[in-house]
Amino acid sequence: MPNMIILGTQWGDEGKGKIVDYLAEKASVVARFQGGANAGHTLKIDDKKYVLHLVPSGIITGKKCIIGQGLVVDYNQFVNEIRELRLSGVEITPENLILDGNAHVIMPYHRVLDMIKDKHIGTTGRGIGPAYEDKANRTRAIRVNDLFSINLKERLEKNIEFYNNLFDFFSTKHGKTREEVALSIFENNPSFKIYFDENFYLSVEAINNDLENKKLFVQRFVKTDESKLVIQTASQNKSLLAEGAQGTMLCVDNGTYPFVTSSNTGLGGAINGLGVYVDYDYRIGIVKAYTTRVGGGPFPTELFDEYGEQLRKQGGEFGATTGRPRRCGWFDVAVVKKSIMLNGINYIALTKLDVLSGFDKIKLCVGYDNEGKPIYEEVDGWNEDITNAKSFDEFPVKCQDYVKKLQSLLNTDVGVVSVGPKRNQTIIIKHIEENILEN
Ligand code: GDP
Ligand code: IMO
Ligand code: MG
Repeated sequence: MPNMIILGTQWGDEGKGKIVDYLAEKASVVARFQGGANAGHTLKIDDKKYVLHLVPSGIITGKKCIIGQGLVVDYNQFVNEIRELRLSGVEITPENLILDGNAHVIMPYHRVLDMIKDKHIGTTGRGIGPAYEDKANRTRAIRVNDLFSINLKERLEKNIEFYNNLFDFFSTKHGKTREEVALSIFENNPSFKIYFDENFYLSVEAINNDLENKKLFVQRFVKTDESKLVIQTASQNKSLLAEGAQGTMLCVDNGTYPFVTSSNTGLGGAINGLGVYVDYDYRIGIVKAYTTRVGGGPFPTELFDEYGEQLRKQGGEFGATTGRPRRCGWFDVAVVKKSIMLNGINYIALTKLDVLSGFDKIKLCVGYDNEGKPIYEEVDGWNEDITNAKSFDEFPVKCQDYVKKLQSLLNTDVGVVSVGPKRNQTIIIKHIEENILEN
């Protein structure tokens, strides 16, 4: 069996969750290595829909799953997501889900800061940036293992004093009182009220109590050295599947900085994020048949016309985490080529091809002019519905041509084509070989 890594090649939401679920069958362990609950990975199996934010998508097929040390883990989200998944019939136990104790904890104050600081990046508001800042800063960081140390409350006191000062700073900066800012947070997130005192300061007592109530639930899943051993064993047995979140263009180093997330979303992030060297035989790039982006930042092929609207509507392009409408545009070859080069992608899963049915024409950005404007090649569209197709040959010729054109422009095998959100709407063009001789 090969070791596989699934990586987004654009700005996220390429359909990673669906493909992880599909390929998990071939794996013994599925591991997330970076990010946090900014991710929203959607799986549709028969008529059931699951949206996973922290728990790896392999949990649905009953694989052993790891939340690696590279993640920032909101303890509330962790508890809630497991409860919700259990309610929808998914079995989750400390046997099949491991949380690495070196992962960092997202506290309510990280989320508060993420909601009130400068908005130009358009973050998901899940506390990702502030938690990674604390990780790099070291003195404020709280790792999962620290939740069970005796001086936790002392640490919280220092941190919350710091965050209350920031809260005042940003309120003043936005020309508002602390009360006004707090009330606007409660309006969208009523559950946050419990973390504030009557003067609208973040309360050490309240946050500490909340943690005390939940940390025993969390503790049962925490294993630090074992997490690495499980990864190493799966990797030696060639049955590890690593699940990336976000996309390469959102990588803090390789992406469209500063309009990025705060983690390394590519192959490099997987080595540190799981803590173990793994030889990934299949470096699978998830490529959406067009482009989307949520939040701020450059997007050269973005459409503001009826074609953009059509993509959003037909593709259901609304965020799985925040519900925000996604910005939509034509396929950008340079973006995906860069991701292929950076991550050593050797196999492509092309997703959402069905969304392009019904377009009279389709454009592909094949380069940029001197002013940085996209240079397009236009191809004919097709009208036929392909959501029930079972093989490549069943696609209309124009659709086949589009796939072939992408494959040749990207110079990488398209191994899988996805023609709908469901597990069985997946067409294999080139099988993943069980025995890899060379890459
Ligand atoms: P991820 O973050 O990369 O896992 O992607 P998301 O789950 O955020 O967004 C992808 C969306 O497209 C989800 O609603 C999926 O159910 C859906 N989806 C995935 N693959 C396909 C496909 O081939 N066709 C269609 N129409 N929808 C798809
Ligand atoms: P999945 O795994 C799409 C975007 C946000 C924002 C920027 C920084 O579902 O593909 P953050 O909250 O991470 O500090 O936000 O990154 N972003 C995503 N966009 N899909 C995601 O995850 C994303 N995670 C973060 O919209 O522009
Ligand atoms: Mg998503």
